[in-house]
Amino acid sequence: MDQNFEDFKQKVKDSSDIVDVISGYVSLQKRGRSYWACCPFHGEKTPSFSVNRENQFFYCFGCHTGGDVFTFVEKMENVTFPEALRILAERARIPVPETHRTAADVRRAKAKEELYGVNELAGRYFAACLTKTQYGGKVQAYLQNRGITEDIIRRFSLGASLPGFSSLRHNLSKKGATDQQMLRAGLIREKDGRLLDAFIGRFMIPIKDSRGRIIAFGGRMLGDGVPKYINTGETEIFQKRETLFALDVALRAIRSAKEAIVVEGYMDAISLHAAGVDRVVASLGTAFSQEHAKLLSRIAEAVVFAYDSDDAGRRNAVRAVSIAKQAGLAVKVLNVPEGKDPDEYVRKAGRDAFEQLVKNAWDGTEFQIRYVISQNNVTELAGKVRAVSNIVPYLHECRNEIEAAGYIKTVAQLLVIDEGLIRNEYRRNRRLPDGKTAAPAPAPQSAELHSVPDALAQAEATVLLLFIRNPGLIAPQEEKLWAIGFKSSVRQRLFEKVLNLRQDKAGIADKLLGDEDGEVQAETARILALDNTGNMSLDLQRQTVADCVLLMERQYLEAEYEKHSALAGRYAETNDPRLSAELQICNELRGKITKLYGND
Ligand code: UTP
Ligand code: MN
Repeated sequence: MDQNFEDFKQKVKDSSDIVDVISGYVSLQKRGRSYWACCPFHGEKTPSFSVNRENQFFYCFGCHTGGDVFTFVEKMENVTFPEALRILAERARIPVPETHRTAADVRRAKAKEELYGVNELAGRYFAACLTKTQYGGKVQAYLQNRGITEDIIRRFSLGASLPGFSSLRHNLSKKGATDQQMLRAGLIREKDGRLLDAFIGRFMIPIKDSRGRIIAFGGRMLGDGVPKYINTGETEIFQKRETLFALDVALRAIRSAKEAIVVEGYMDAISLHAAGVDRVVASLGTAFSQEHAKLLSRIAEAVVFAYDSDDAGRRNAVRAVSIAKQAGLAVKVLNVPEGKDPDEYVRKAGRDAFEQLVKNAWDGTEFQIRYVISQNNVTELAGKVRAVSNIVPYLHECRNEIEAAGYIKTVAQLLVIDEGLIRNEYRRNRRLPDGKTAAPAPAPQSAELHSVPDALAQAEATVLLLFIRNPGLIAPQEEKLWAIGFKSSVRQRLFEKVLNLRQDKAGIADKLLGDEDGEVQAETARILALDNTGNMSLDLQRQTVADCVLLMERQYLEAEYEKHSALAGRYAETNDPRLSAELQICNELRGKITKLYGND
């Protein structure tokens, strides 16, 4: 990163007081040295989300999210770091320097801005046509008939495109948009040398990005006929695979429920929001993609697919479950009764009935299993065999063997065959449907942070806290700490980073809170949030570090002793000649441990 960019980033940071920024999203209460709120990243009733003005960081004691002001905006707005930087720069009215971007970057960014602009104009025009024209009256009647209220019309910025061939083009030209821009945005198209509106005589649904900017449109016919919908094709600002309809209005609800409901259609999403189920997004006719899954995995832990209960819908759901499972999401599939789609169902049965369906939803893998079984004649042996071989790939998508083992039992029961046979098939066929070998997902490293802090964890945290506060304390302990290490891998990484940053003095906490490793960020925030070393004298700090390192060393030696004495035990049983060497090591360890305790 060049210096200009670093300066710019620092300037933005200096002008974005974390308390002010976060106050824009949640209301904070000052208590002690910190500001508190109910955490915007997970659902809770008592505040465990803390913001520290002095050191400019936030930390949630409930969900262990933490970091600096950029991290907060990234998570809150679901954007990348450069976007968060831009948002904060705009907020602080600091011009974004063009110098760190290439000429091509600048041109591309400008071209995109134009498309957002022209889409915004089109959206406003369609909305005006809905309320102010005769044709719009017809559309309003249609919407009313489908139970869509004015409030929902506003929330989704719904509109109407007039039946004429180029009313949009004429209107937007008057407002300064060029044909070029409208073509690039997919709002008009060329036909036989003439430029025509792309949407003619339709009910218009803007598709927005997570920040609420219009990036595309869908237009539905009022009656029956084909095509039922016309959608904007791919443009510089619209990629179907990466877009989820209604994400802008659903973001908060998804985050606080940690769950997203995914539907297939515009109208399903709109109706569910209208009914008050607001954690709903739609994948819009295109198949649920890996990009969709990744996007949701950043803001939720679980997805519920609420697809049409017809054959196509169920087939799509089976595939979507696979993709979501592989992104690490917990997956459920809703069973909408009587062959209805979610839109029809929620309008008839209401919100509570729909939420009940969510509660009773199939587990994703079980849905896949049952789907395969329904597609095979499993009253015959051949059908059972086929079903098993079609089910096995879904078992390989499971997060771990334990989970898979549970499903193997289910399959055995459903098919009335021996569990061992399925297990063999499962072992023999260790390939995922896409040809990749199945690798067990890594265990979440952060799990260890979420357990009750034991003495060792506290000691490790205290050492790091004091090192961050006062790097002068590092040197006397450095060698020993390298030898024994931190039990927590995050804190080990944090330790190594602190060593690298030790020359920085005042800037260490700052740099760590903005570290690229999200776990390091969060752990730094956690450690700083627990800080009660404010008035410690230098002597006391030194003593505290030494005490903590002593505790770490004892625990390390005890663990080593356990390991070697277990090994020695095994060698003794088998008359292994390595026994005497192991006993020697055990003896030495015991000696060291006794000496350490003797120091008390
Ligand atoms: P549906 O046919 O289920 O549409 O297609 P829907 O949303 O339920 O609409 P209503 O209730 O009949 O009004 C599901 C989705 O597939 C895409 C749209 O995104 C639609 O919402 N689709 C469907 C198209 O893009 N083009 C089409 O012609 C049909
Ligand atoms: Mn429908």
